[in-house]
Amino acid sequence: MAGTEIRKREPLPGDRKVSAAVIGAGIAGILTAYFLEKAGVSAVVLEADRIGSGQTKNTTAKITSQHGMIYDGLIRTFGQRMAGHYARANEDAIREYERLIQEKGIECDFTWCPAGLYSLEEEVLLKREAEAARALGIEASFEKKCELPFSVAGVTIFERQARFHPLKFLAQIAEEVEVYEQTKVLKVDGNRVETARGCVEADFIVFAVHFPFINIPGYYFARMYQERSYVEAMKGVKSLEGMYLGIDEQGLSFRSQGETLLLGGYGHRTGTKQAGKGGIFHDAVPKGVGGCRYGMLRDKAQALFPGCEEIARWSAQDCMTLDKVPYIGRFSRRKPQWYVATGFGKWGMTSAMVSARVLTALITGKPCPEADIFSPQRHFTARAAKELAVHGGHTVKGLAKHLIPSGNREIIPNCPHMGCRLEWNPEEETYDCPCHGSRFDREGHLIDDPAQTNCRRRSE
Ligand code: FES
Repeated sequence: MAGTEIRKREPLPGDRKVSAAVIGAGIAGILTAYFLEKAGVSAVVLEADRIGSGQTKNTTAKITSQHGMIYDGLIRTFGQRMAGHYARANEDAIREYERLIQEKGIECDFTWCPAGLYSLEEEVLLKREAEAARALGIEASFEKKCELPFSVAGVTIFERQARFHPLKFLAQIAEEVEVYEQTKVLKVDGNRVETARGCVEADFIVFAVHFPFINIPGYYFARMYQERSYVEAMKGVKSLEGMYLGIDEQGLSFRSQGETLLLGGYGHRTGTKQAGKGGIFHDAVPKGVGGCRYGMLRDKAQALFPGCEEIARWSAQDCMTLDKVPYIGRFSRRKPQWYVATGFGKWGMTSAMVSARVLTALITGKPCPEADIFSPQRHFTARAAKELAVHGGHTVKGLAKHLIPSGNREIIPNCPHMGCRLEWNPEEETYDCPCHGSRFDREGHLIDDPAQTNCRRRSE
C-alpha cells in the first residue's frame, strides 16, 4: 500500500443507464468489469471507498490453484468431472494473469514459482492430494524434502504457480475500467442500483463485494462465515523459491518478496477464539503467550530465521463457504439479472480471475463448462450440511448471548446486521460479530460487512 498509487476517481455524478453495474472495486470487481467491456458489455463499477481498499490489499498474493487440501475432497464430493472444472478454472486463471501482464506490460513483480503443502506428520494425505491433483491435470508431485528450514514428512508440490503485487496490477487494469469511488450502494431493486450519488439502471448487476449485503434472496449469511488470519512481514530472510502452506495444527504460510518473508498463521473464526478450518490454521492461540498472534508469528520467524526484523503486519478477513468452493454465478433463481462473486476463502487472487471469466461467459451467453462447480445453486453436499449445523450453532449462540463485552461502554454491542451480540477483540481493538463476521472499530464504526451501518450508541 505504501508503495503503490492508484489514481483517485470521482463519485458517480448522477443517474446512469448501462449494460452492467458491478458493485465493488476489489480485484474481482475490476477484472469482471474489464472482461465485460472487452466482450462488448458496457460496465461501470461502484465502490463505497476506494479501488482495492478492501481485502485485495490484505493478502499474501499467491496466484495458485493449490487451495489447501482440496482436490481429493472435491473428487469425492463432486466427482471427477466437476472437480476437474475447479482445477481447470484455477489453472487457467494463473495463465490468464500472465497473459494480461505480458500483453499490457504491467510491472507487478509477477514471478513463476512452485507452491507446496507441507506437513510434519502426514505423508499419506499429502501423497493422496498430489495424486488427486495429477488426476485432474495439474502438474503435481509428492516430495520428501523442501527448502524450508525444518524437516518435513512430505510436501505436495504444484509447478508453474505464481506470485505478484496485486495493487500494482490493479492500478493498471483499473485504468481501462469506468469506476466511481465514494459511491456506496444503498439499495438494489430489480434493475436499479441506488446510491447516495444517483441511480444506475443496468441489465445485469454483479455483486463483487466481499460479503453480499442483501440477505434475501440468496441467503448468503446462512451459507458463509468469516475467518481472520494474520501476517507478519519480516525483512532479512533469504528468498524462498517456493510458497508454502502447512496443513498441520500450527501450520504456517510462507511467501517471499525479495528478502522479505510474509509469514502467516494463527487464524480463527471472526468473533471467536475458535481456530479456522481453512486448511492453514487449525489451532487456537496457545496459553502463556498473552494471546498475541502477531507476537507468536514474530517469535516463530525469529526461531526459524534468526536476526529477521518486522517491517509490517496485517490481518485478513476471509469469507468461507460451507463446502470450500466459492459462489460465482447467478445470485438467486428469483433474480435472473443479478450475479455474485463471493466466498473466496483464502484464495482471492485466482478466485477473482475465475469470477471475471465465469461471470462474463454467463452474462454474454458463452459456453462455460467450469461454471457448474462454482454455481451458488449447486447441490448441497453432506459436508456442507455438517458445516451448516456448526455455523447455525454459532449464530444461535451469538443471538442468545446477553453478556456485555468489554471495550467502549458507549456502544450498544448488538450487530446491526441481524442483532448478534458482538465480542470485544482486544488484540485488534475491534468489536467482532461471531455470527457472520461483521467488524467495528472501538467507536462502533463499520470495518467489515455484511453489516451496512455503524453500531448504535447509547446516547442516540
Ligand atoms: Fe450478521 Fe453480525 S454479521 S449478525
